[in-house]
Amino acid sequence: MQVRILGSAAGGGFPQWNCNCRNCLGVRRRELNARPRTQSSIAIRGADETAWTLVNASPDILAQLQANPQLQPARSARDTGIRNIVLTDSQIDHTTGLLMLRESPRPWPLWCTDGVFADLTTVNPILQVLQNYCGVSRQRIEPGEWFGVEGSEDLRWQAIALPGKPPPYSKRASQPGDVIGLLVEDVRAKRRLCYAPGVANIDSWLFELMAGSHCVLVDGTFWTDDELIALGVSRKRAADMGHLTQTGGMIRWLDRLPQTTRRVLIHINNTNPILVEDSPEREVLNAHNIEVAYDGMEIDL
Ligand code: MLT
Ligand code: MN
Ligand code: ZN
Repeated sequence: MQVRILGSAAGGGFPQWNCNCRNCLGVRRRELNARPRTQSSIAIRGADETAWTLVNASPDILAQLQANPQLQPARSARDTGIRNIVLTDSQIDHTTGLLMLRESPRPWPLWCTDGVFADLTTVNPILQVLQNYCGVSRQRIEPGEWFGVEGSEDLRWQAIALPGKPPPYSKRASQPGDVIGLLVEDVRAKRRLCYAPGVANIDSWLFELMAGSHCVLVDGTFWTDDELIALGVSRKRAADMGHLTQTGGMIRWLDRLPQTTRRVLIHINNTNPILVEDSPEREVLNAHNIEVAYDGMEIDL
């Protein structure tokens, strides 16, 4: 199994268009040792190098596809390596890119839970809009049940219902499955990935699933709970937004994983000091053997 990080930043990307925090200003002026990053998305393939599953469709998808030619096998006049799309929630940063994929000649197999499907067909009716273009063939994800996607028969997938809530635009009461993590297993190699770009809390059950994985690719949004408040850019705490911070517990949980489990933070907000490669916060991560995902990063499992 191979994982390609298409976008490693949280909503807004890095730098964010209207942000002049130390990080955004510094990377825009090229005065900081930090790489720009696009918004949250990854692609996963099994043995077939031309059959990818896109996990989340970022507003930056077109730039991401240009930057990752592996996803364009060019077998015919119109082609793509993306065979399936899986969504982990209905957030703007994970779904807007669907509109950019409307030129597909066939309906997209789109895997999502009921709550996500409800958002994308009611208050944010992206899927209705797409019905007038390529259309989607919705595939239901039921948390806790294994599923398989066409074209990657050597991989199996399972959604984990995570603590979290529907996006700000959604008027639904929250239900389990609004935010999911994914276990992806290469059934022949017996290698597992645990992907959870947004997780409000880790409990012992989720921790067991993480500990049974060879790589965890998890929520790296914020360093501290009041990061946005301290910068004066928002009144929201990380906890209000459904993100477990590095200092609020993520580092401690990752420390408890088996030595052999690779730990990678993803979905990093532009305000997070770990984006600066020579920052003291990054040094802390290094000391704990925790990596920070970047656009174009490849993880072989
Ligand atoms: C989040 O996951 O909280 C988002 O990145 C927020 C957003 O997309 O605006
Ligand atoms: Mn997000
Ligand atoms: Zn910023």
